[in-house]
Order: sequence, then C-alpha cells, then structure tokens
Amino acid sequence: MSSSLRQWFARVLVLTQLINGALCWGKEGHYTVCKIAESYFEEETVAAVKKLLPKSADGDLASVCSWPDEIKHHWQWRWTSPLHYVDTPDYRCNYEYCRDCHDTHKNQDRCVTGAIFNYTMQLMSASENSDTTVHYNLTEALMFLSHFIGDIHQPLHVGFLGDEGGNTITVRWYRRKTNLHHVWDNMIIESALKTYYNKSLPLMIEALQANLTVQSYFLYEAPVPVCL
Ligand SMILES: *[C@@H]1O[C@H](CO)[C@@H](O)[C@H](O)[C@H]1NC(C)=O
Ligand SMILES: *[C@@H]1O[C@H](CO)[C@@H](O)[C@H](O)[C@H]1NC(C)=O
Ligand SMILES: *[C@@H]1O[C@H](CO)[C@@H](O)[C@H](O)[C@H]1NC(C)=O
Ligand SMILES: *[C@@H]1O[C@H](CO)[C@@H](O)[C@H](O)[C@H]1NC(C)=O
Ligand SMILES: [Zn+2]
Repeated sequence: MSSSLRQWFARVLVLTQLINGALCWGKEGHYTVCKIAESYFEEETVAAVKKLLPKSADGDLASVCSWPDEIKHHWQWRWTSPLHYVDTPDYRCNYEYCRDCHDTHKNQDRCVTGAIFNYTMQLMSASENSDTTVHYNLTEALMFLSHFIGDIHQPLHVGFLGDEGGNTITVRWYRRKTNLHHVWDNMIIESALKTYYNKSLPLMIEALQANLTVQSYFLYEAPVPVCL
C-alpha cells in the first residue's frame, strides 16, 4: 500500500472514531457507573482487576466498560446482543427468569440477568480455584460483567417485548425527535452534562459520588436458575 493511501486510511479511521465518540453518549453512562464502582474497590479487588484488564485500559476499568457495545454488531459476537437487556410480556409488571430470559430463538439464559450470572460464576470460580485450568477468557468476563451491571440499571433495559424496551416509542426530547430508549441511554445524561456540569463528565461523577451514602453490602447468594 502506498504511504499516502495509508495516511488517508489512518485519517478516515481517526475521523470515524471522532464521529463515533460524538454520537456514542451511551459510553458516558457506562463510564460513570464503572468509575463510581472503582471508588469502592478494596485493595485486593484493585489488584485482581488490574491483572485482568487489557493493555488498552491503561489500568482503568471504566475505560473498557463500553467494550460489549462496541463488539456486539460484529458477526462473531452477534449472539451477545440479547445479553444487554431482558424484556417481559407487555404490561406484565413482573419478571420470571424462565419465562423471560431467552433470546428471540428461545435460547434459554440469553438475557442480561443470565449473562450477569454466567460471567459472575466464571470470575468467582476462577478466584476460588486458582490452580485449576481456566476455561474462559476472564478479561472478557470482567468487561461483560461491568457493562451488564450498568445496563440492567437503565430502566428500559428491563422493558416490554412489544415496544422493544421503548425503542419503538417515538418521543421528542427538547427539539429532537428520538425514541424513549435512546432518551434514557444517552439524552438525559447529555442534557444533565450541558445544563449542570459545564459538559464535564468528571464533575458529574463527583456530584453523584457526593450524594452516595456508604452502606455495608452483603453477598446475596442467588439460587442457580433452573428452567425445565
Ligand atoms: C457464558 O459465557 C461464555 C463465554 O463468553 C459463552 O461462551 C457462553 O455461551 C455463555 N453462556 C450463556 C448461557 O450465556
Ligand atoms: C481475551 O479477550 C481479549 C478481548 O477480547 C483479547 O484481547 C485477548 O486476546 C483474549 N485472551 C486470550 C488468552 O485469548
Ligand atoms: C466550563 O468549561 C470551560 C472549558 O471547557 C472553562 O473554560 C470554563 O471556565 C468552565 N466554566 C465554569 C463555570 O466552570
Ligand atoms: C444530590 O442531592 C441533593 C439533595 O437531595 C439534590 O438536590 C441534588 O440534585 C443531588 N445531586 C445529584 C447529582 O444527584
Ligand atoms: Zn449494553
């Protein structure tokens, strides 16, 4: 390849990434969730996470928390798309693992709660038996888990089947026509940053952290889901 062509490719690549960066506000939400989580890490956790992070993370978990969104459209990762949410039948304001946690082909466990369970188990069993061979890529497990914990706390990632978690509900956010899912993923955060935080994400994170009350957490041992 000629060097000018290579330069041109490099320029297009940089440009696409800039455009992506400008449009992917969903990144801000995930970055915020992971940044706040990191501030609660104990020393032991910091070390364990550092060991698993890819080089590109430069030691910061928050910087790779959007990775599952970046890869989900590639053909070899397409099966992970349904892992970002779980939908219930319309107006059924309850959730049943065996009824609801599957992809559109009815593959059981393919939803956000199933994925959180899967990747939590991978990380926990690896830390409990450090000498046994690890079957899974724990770097991926950590990035998936950190991302899905963020997703499940976005109200419309646990929505109704009929409107695809608000994706088919057209709304206006100020002057822009968009859909309800996108408002929650991106536009609320975008507006809050503009209105209250001088477009500074670190300032917003600081304000959120200042309002958090420290509680003692305990490990809740959820039963292993079994569906007949
Ligand atoms: C659990 O994670 C592994 C590694 O990504 C994947 O191969 C497997 O299909 C997952 N299982 C479920 C039920 O999602
Ligand atoms: C684990 O996954 C990461 C991210 O996909 C990848 O970069 C890395 O090469 C994988 N490690 C192994 C040992 O396959
Ligand atoms: C807002 O941010 C800009 C830089 O992005 C800075 O110059 C300005 O002083 C900030 N305004 C306030 C009120 O902090
Ligand atoms: C923090 O709490 C105060 C008092 O309830 C509230 O006015 C403020 O909006 C909160 N800030 C954030 C970032 O949630
Ligand atoms: Zn997601």
